[in-house]
Amino acid sequence: MSDGRGFSTRAIHEGEQPKGIVEEPISTPIWLTSDYFYEGLEHYADVVNERRPGFVYGRYGNPTHVALHRVLASLEGAEAAWSFASGMAALHVAITALVKTGGHVVAQRTVYGGTLSLLKEVLPDYGIQTTFTEMEAAAVAAALRPTTGAVLVETLANPTFRVADVRGIADVCAEAEIPLVVDNTVATPWLYRPIEALPCETLVMHSTSKYIGGHSDLIGGAVACSAGRMERIRFLAMEQGGTAGAFDAWLALRGVQTLGLRMERQSATALALARSLFDHPKASRVGYSGLPQHPDHERAVDLFGERGFGAMLSFTLTGGYEAASRACAALQVARVGSSFGGLNTEVTHPGTTSHRQFSAEERVAAGIGDGLIRCSVGGEDPDDLIADFAQALEKA
Ligand SMILES: Cc1ncc(COP(=O)(O)O)c(C=O)c1O
Repeated sequence: MSDGRGFSTRAIHEGEQPKGIVEEPISTPIWLTSDYFYEGLEHYADVVNERRPGFVYGRYGNPTHVALHRVLASLEGAEAAWSFASGMAALHVAITALVKTGGHVVAQRTVYGGTLSLLKEVLPDYGIQTTFTEMEAAAVAAALRPTTGAVLVETLANPTFRVADVRGIADVCAEAEIPLVVDNTVATPWLYRPIEALPCETLVMHSTSKYIGGHSDLIGGAVACSAGRMERIRFLAMEQGGTAGAFDAWLALRGVQTLGLRMERQSATALALARSLFDHPKASRVGYSGLPQHPDHERAVDLFGERGFGAMLSFTLTGGYEAASRACAALQVARVGSSFGGLNTEVTHPGTTSHRQFSAEERVAAGIGDGLIRCSVGGEDPDDLIADFAQALEKA
């Protein structure tokens, strides 16, 4: 009803959030607001200068972010967490919070292609160099320099899914007092919680676009670490502008609720599929540490315990790229897809896609052969997937 105020004034103000709601919503609401109202100038100044708790601006975090940060910190056993617009934004902030111009990083040879690109093509322009090495304690110890400010490891290396010697490397880091950054995207905290398990200062990072979100509908990242280290991470997120958008933060918050359910189911299916591929004459080098024949099986059991071995696997077609292409085209339940961690089973050829940033020599050194197919095992019924891969391999 018109109250004397003009049309546009009412259009803007009558839709403001209703006051005095006492019932709590079961689903944490999404705060799609960039800015906030205050009682007056002093109130705003007190909040923005952190003399009083409150919210200021979307880039500094909103109540949806607070809920997401709380759950991610809790699941990773960390004191604090922050969410980012992507896994790459999270990684960039984690590294630059630890390493300054003139500094040095030791990273694993087999990493996600974007990570390789950041370390090899971007950070050197800012005076940060990286040595790439095997993820064994002795190799990491040998690569350390007086300027090394961080060691970076993927718990389960994308796309070979070799298991890093995380414990041995953490001992080296503890001795040298160098922080360890663990990309826990593939393992997820359901499988492994590095901050709880390791003796050195550990920062965990995630592409929440994958299992944390779990539904192939968001791009996001996160860093979890100690409260002290988080001060700089949060500052960089705010000043570099990489904080997650509210909607993506909300999707991650919704998705993480079922992380355990999804990982349990998808890991069990991955093990069943890996077993069936292991027996197949056209597939070799099945990259799944849950197989007793896998070179990292004991290490995986040691790290992950009873929980399983994750939902990602790779295998190599003896017929090389041509055979891989034919097999992928023949799949009917699984599909060729560009990412992983969702409920749809996706396959990809890392050598020509996710790891295209690697040179031919780097691919060989990283174990990414021409016939290697990466598979993100989704939530479909295991028998349907096993049958689908069996019929596709016949056509390889
Ligand atoms: C292991 C790993 N870390 C980090 C990233 C980067 O995450 P995002 O794509 O969310 O930026 C990816 C992306 O595929 C990844 O596989």
